[in-house]
Parts: sequence; C-alpha cells; structure tokens
Amino acid sequence: MYLVLFGPPGAGKGTQAKRLEAAYHLVQLSTGDMLRAEVASGSTLGIKVKDIMKAGELVPDALIVDMISGRIDAADAKAGFILDGFPRTIPQARALDAMLEGKGLKLNRVIELRADDEAMVERITGRFSCVSCGANYHEKFNPTKVAGVCDACGGARFDRRADDTAETVRARLQAYHDQTAPLISYFEKKGNLLSIDGMAAIDDVTRQLREVLD
Ligand code: AP5
Repeated sequence: MYLVLFGPPGAGKGTQAKRLEAAYHLVQLSTGDMLRAEVASGSTLGIKVKDIMKAGELVPDALIVDMISGRIDAADAKAGFILDGFPRTIPQARALDAMLEGKGLKLNRVIELRADDEAMVERITGRFSCVSCGANYHEKFNPTKVAGVCDACGGARFDRRADDTAETVRARLQAYHDQTAPLISYFEKKGNLLSIDGMAAIDDVTRQLREVLD
C-alpha cells in the first residue's frame, strides 16, 4: 500500500503515520524527520536547510525531491510506505507522480487530516519527544503515563523541536495555506483524496483511518 498523509502542521500526520506503520507493516517516510537528521548530522544538506526550517519556510523543491527519491528506492520501502509531509507543493506532487510511474507504482490513497489553525498552535507548542527513541508526546493531549519517563523505552530525557515556537508555527501554517493546500484540488482531480476529521481525539482519528484503509 502506498499512502500520502497530508495536512497542516500539527494535524497529527506523524502520530498517525507511526500507528499505521505498525498496523499495516508500512514504512513512514517523513521528509521533516529526514531533514532534521541532516541538520543534526551537520551534512551539506543540513547546513543548507537549517535556517529555512527554523523560520518555518519550505525547503526548495529540488532538494526535497532528490532526498525522497533515494529513500523511496530503499529496500524497506518496497513493501509499501506512508509519505508524511511530502508532497507539499504542486511541483513536488508532479515529481512524485513521475517517480512512481517510473517504478510502475501507484498511490492507493491520499488522506487529508483536516484541522483548525488555532488548535494547531496549542498542539505544536505542547509537543515533546523522547531523546532516546523519538516517541512523540503532548503535555495535555498525549502525556507520558509516568511523568518524566518515556512509555516506549523508559528514557528520561526529552526534547522539543527548534521550529515548535508559536511564532514559527504561524509561519508554517501560512506556508501550508499558500503552498500546500492547493494540492487538495490537485488530488481531488486525480480521484484518490479522502478527507478525515483531524480535530477528533487521537484514537478516534486512528479509527477513522483504519475504517478507510481496511
Ligand atoms: P514536518 O516535520 O513535516 O512538520 P509539519 O508538517 O509542520 O508537521 P508536524 O510534524 O509539526 O505535525 P504533524 O502533523 O506530524 O503532527 P504530530 O503528529 O507531531 O516539517 C518541518 C519543516 O521541514 C517544514 O516547516 C519545512 O521547513 C521542512 N519540510 C518538511 N517536508 C518538506 C517538504 N516536503 N517540502 C519542503 N519543506 C519541507 O502532532 C502534533 C502534536 O499534537 C503532538 O504532540 C501530538 O501528540 C498531538 N496530537 C496529534 N494528534 C492529535 C489529536 N488528534 N488530538 C490532540 N493532540 C494531537
């Protein structure tokens, strides 16, 4: 199965992609995670994109397309993948179409998680993750079961993303409306877009997704 999870910053793409990955034996391909790994490693790409990401702007299409095309070819993506955060512009969507066509593959579904801007600011500024295993939490909506201890690995150190400030979230939302939301009609025309209520509780969103995919 080849899926795209699509929606504004904070809509729950990463949270739901992790759950679908486990349920359907797919691999999550998050361009945001890949870029953060490049920044952390200090690679040439990481140096180029660090300030762009911190400002909440989109990284140039050519860099993203290069990065993701190699990743889609990796052995662990052969059985199926969930694209999380890609494509994000019309040129990226066209590049994805060309990439898949070249491999004889077709997207099964593009799923939009609909969400309100104001709620996204609260979601993103309350997000934190485990330094050891990367598990994602929220202070109010998805806290650890035991305060200060990661449910997944028992780690006790947590981190926040450099772009998770209220100011940057607003810039990211603006970039979403200006450059990414036009993809809704792009995918509608192709006939494979489904829209899910991303404002529901985390488990309810998972339930809606599983109903659509089963
Ligand atoms: P990226 O990492 O893709 O960030 P984003 O799209 O802004 O999305 P987020 O990861 O912030 O949110 P999410 O939807 O995954 O929400 P999550 O599940 O974590 O991109 C970062 C940057 O990289 C971009 O700004 C850009 O610079 C660059 N970039 C990446 N891809 C690019 C591309 N293709 N082209 C160009 N540039 C690119 O949930 C958020 C919080 O809410 C969590 O704490 C979670 O626990 C909680 N939560 C989740 N669901 C719910 C719910 N239903 N109810 C209550 N709380 C919830």
